[in-house]
Amino acid sequence: MKRYLLVTITLLILVACAAKKKAAAEKSLPTEGQLMAVQKKFPDATMANLQKGHELFYGKCTRCHGPKNISKRSEKEWPKILDKMAPRAKLSPEDKDAVYKYVMSVKLGGKSK
Ligand code: HEC
Repeated sequence: MKRYLLVTITLLILVACAAKKKAAAEKSLPTEGQLMAVQKKFPDATMANLQKGHELFYGKCTRCHGPKNISKRSEKEWPKILDKMAPRAKLSPEDKDAVYKYVMSVKLGGKSK
């Protein structure tokens, strides 16, 4: 009986952690405002680009470390960072571009994360 309780508690904790992680990621889903901001610089950027970039940023890019603070690094630094990180995350050129556009949309769209 005791063991079942332990298993139940462990499962509850796991579910709670997953829900929290999901909520944190969803909080920063790309917005229309960010899309409009990034299109001033990259007219070909689409919402699909940003959503893919967002997914990768909070997915593949968090395998080795947590999601890095976007606004803390400058517009000039990000291409260099991605040149280094994209091979580590094994991103295709399209994926790397999507992450770059997502990062720029967050910077230009004025959201802090
Ligand atoms: C294979 C592991 C790995 C993957 C995958 C990875 N990184 Fe990193 N990243 C590192 C390591 C190691 C460092 C240096 C130590 C640190 O700052 O955590 C680093 C540092 C960073 C930094 C800080 C660099 C600086 O100069 O301020 C940023 C920003 C960053 N990564 C972004 C990303 C992004 C975006 C992706 C996805 C494209 C990514 N990382 C994927 C391993 C990885």
